[in-house]
Amino acid sequence: MEWIKVCEADSLGNGDIIGFDYNNKKILIAKAQDKIYATDGICTHEYADLSNGFLNEEQKTVTCPLHLSVFKLDNGIPENPPAEIPLKTYTVKIQNKGIYVLI
Ligand code: FES
Repeated sequence: MEWIKVCEADSLGNGDIIGFDYNNKKILIAKAQDKIYATDGICTHEYADLSNGFLNEEQKTVTCPLHLSVFKLDNGIPENPPAEIPLKTYTVKIQNKGIYVLI
């Protein structure tokens, strides 16, 4: 595993979600209530890019754009069907004003 720089920390505001490609893998980066989260970027139900989904900053969740399963950003657990499998989550750190994810 290694720390991968995603972007500058000040380029991600509260309520923002972005997709990040690394080694043919899509990672979702989201900021809610001043905390940054990283999860797998593809839904565990079918193929949907969660960076096209909807962030609920208050609930700290992302909603899949295809069938609307809602995933918790901190642990990746789906709150409603059809998705049943949690998203993998990643450790995030801020260093030298950059956002880094441990992949
Ligand atoms: S593809 Fe995400 S809920 Fe179906």
